[in-house]
Amino acid sequence: MTVAYGQQGAIAVLTIDNPPVNALSVAVRQGLIDGIGRAIGDPAIAAIVVIGKGKTFIAGADIREFGKPPQAPRLTVAIAAIEASPKPVVAAIDGVALGGGLEVALGCHFRIGTKRCQLGLPEVKIGIVPGAGGVERLPRLIGLEPALKMMVSGDPVRADRARELGIIDAIAEGDLLTDAAAFAERVVAEKTPIRRLSESTIALDGVDWRALLAAARATAGKSHRGQISPQRVIDCVENAITLPFDQALGETIRIINELIPSAQAKALRYAFFAEREAGKVPDIDKTITVRPLRSAAVIGAGTMGGGIAMCFADAGIPVLVLENSAEALEKGMVRIEQNYQDMVQKGRIRAEDKTKRMGLISKAAGYDALGDVDIVIEAAFEEMAVKKDVFARLDRACKPDAVLATNTSYLNVDEIASATKRPESVIGLHFFSPANVMRLLEIVRGAKTAKDIVATAQALARTIGKIGVVCGVCDGFVANRSRGPMTREASFLVDEGALPQQVDKVLYEFGMAMGPFAVGDVAGIDVGWRVRRSLDATRPKDQRYSPTADRLYELGRYGQKTSKGWYRYEKGSRVPLPDPEVEAVIMQSSKDQGITRRAIGDEEILARCLYAAINEGAKILDEKIAAPTRSG
Ligand code: 3HC
Repeated sequence: MTVAYGQQGAIAVLTIDNPPVNALSVAVRQGLIDGIGRAIGDPAIAAIVVIGKGKTFIAGADIREFGKPPQAPRLTVAIAAIEASPKPVVAAIDGVALGGGLEVALGCHFRIGTKRCQLGLPEVKIGIVPGAGGVERLPRLIGLEPALKMMVSGDPVRADRARELGIIDAIAEGDLLTDAAAFAERVVAEKTPIRRLSESTIALDGVDWRALLAAARATAGKSHRGQISPQRVIDCVENAITLPFDQALGETIRIINELIPSAQAKALRYAFFAEREAGKVPDIDKTITVRPLRSAAVIGAGTMGGGIAMCFADAGIPVLVLENSAEALEKGMVRIEQNYQDMVQKGRIRAEDKTKRMGLISKAAGYDALGDVDIVIEAAFEEMAVKKDVFARLDRACKPDAVLATNTSYLNVDEIASATKRPESVIGLHFFSPANVMRLLEIVRGAKTAKDIVATAQALARTIGKIGVVCGVCDGFVANRSRGPMTREASFLVDEGALPQQVDKVLYEFGMAMGPFAVGDVAGIDVGWRVRRSLDATRPKDQRYSPTADRLYELGRYGQKTSKGWYRYEKGSRVPLPDPEVEAVIMQSSKDQGITRRAIGDEEILARCLYAAINEGAKILDEKIAAPTRSG
């Protein structure tokens, strides 16, 4: 039974049992309607509790059903049946109540949650709007502004905040079902009036809702540049304000039906499932015992090393930081402290969080101090000799079962591992800058890396809130490798007639956060130069090569760090400004290569850059670099 019917005294208990996350598939929708009907019809029943089996209340509509012909009953019908019940209905929420899950809870008359429950309407994240009454009911329950914020961001709130906002009426102290049943009995005994949100109105006294919606549109236009669904959510909220409940809901249903087959929603659904697929590696199953990671160390206190140390501290894991010199170490610690201070100032963490996290980061006096740590991540200079030296030292200093990881972004992990007597313990953990913010973590599996080390790295990714993507050894792994040909193509376009600002604009308008030349200036033209030099020996002789970036390097234009790169930068500013000096370098480079420059259209730029990346992606899959098995 996807919705089991049970009874505790005068309380009917409807338990949703649809693993893994109790998504609202057709059987659940029907089960809820049947269960509510049975409880209403039974004179022995005074109230109803709706609860989820397992660790989740309901994760929302079944995303796998999207794009298929809808099957009756619709979720709105099931929720209307719950809300219309003359007997009080209490939602008992453990784990997440997301999307349709929260909408079911809002259809109930009361809500009680556990301390770890999380509630949200994340529909915008998959390119749609809450389509089963959430847009209409949430502002009626908690007011326009907080509801708008939750729906436009799609971010969930935790139990304490949900209680503060009034989304839940109580937090369960003991067993959830026991507390929910007691709550229901109290409602019956005290004859607490049933609250049907669809029958109430949105409190708008003193609220300039037009200004609020206009501000929300402007903010979403920046934070979700080019995305349709956040703007459509605001349209739905406007309807919820100006139209009667049923009419507004009708409009929302029309809008969600329009969005579900849209290209953006399809792409975001694909990304949702792809992110989950990326965590599955054919020969690494859940039975493998992962090593406990209770302490860590980071080699290198530069931007990367510092960011990685913050990842551990943020997750409550004590971390040692080691550097070549006391000065470099001190500088790194100051930078970490400054980063936390900025987060406090922006209201992202509290001052006491900063103190706690800084308290978990300590300076290591030398390699001898690393004898007890469970994992070491090396983030030293990107040069093979340096890496090998570090790993030889780690091999001598670390305990036998420690995980030895390198944050290299393109060097051969197998060669690094060969500097140790335990290559099976060595793995690549490639973070992206800023390491404490970016969600991607490439887990690079060497030829000899042990399975439990891979599984441990995957568990670590989850612990520190990253998406761990297992990949094999190759130049640039998955992310940088797939970007490489795009960056090369961008250089060819510039040699043939385009300018950096034109190429960057096209890719920015396509949706990228930055174009490849602006990225080059952030990453450092000197860094790119070093990478190209390391590839000189193996680059096929007949492969096209643009020398233009090398010319900039020779002029000392290393990017933002020297205020000059593909662009120029005013003092203290990160805004890229076109530079006639760069144009002159480009013109000369075209001439030197014997290329007659021509006008290049935006379409050609987009097609050449994207197809280059797509082709490389296909090769990465073909070579089984993404999610490789050891033998693969
Ligand atoms: N529909 C279908 N499958 C879902 C699902 C959903 N809503 N949510 C999760 N799943 C599946 C995952 O694909 C995964 O399947 P797999 O094991 O075959 O790969 C499995 O459930 C477990 O999911 P996770 O690996 O993500 O497990 P976590 O414990 O890390 O996270 C979660 C659980 C927080 C629920 C997360 O999966 C999540 O955020 N889910 C999506 C929530 C969502 O977007 N809900 C809104 C849906 S749209 C909606 O409700 C429209 C309504 O307004 C009408």
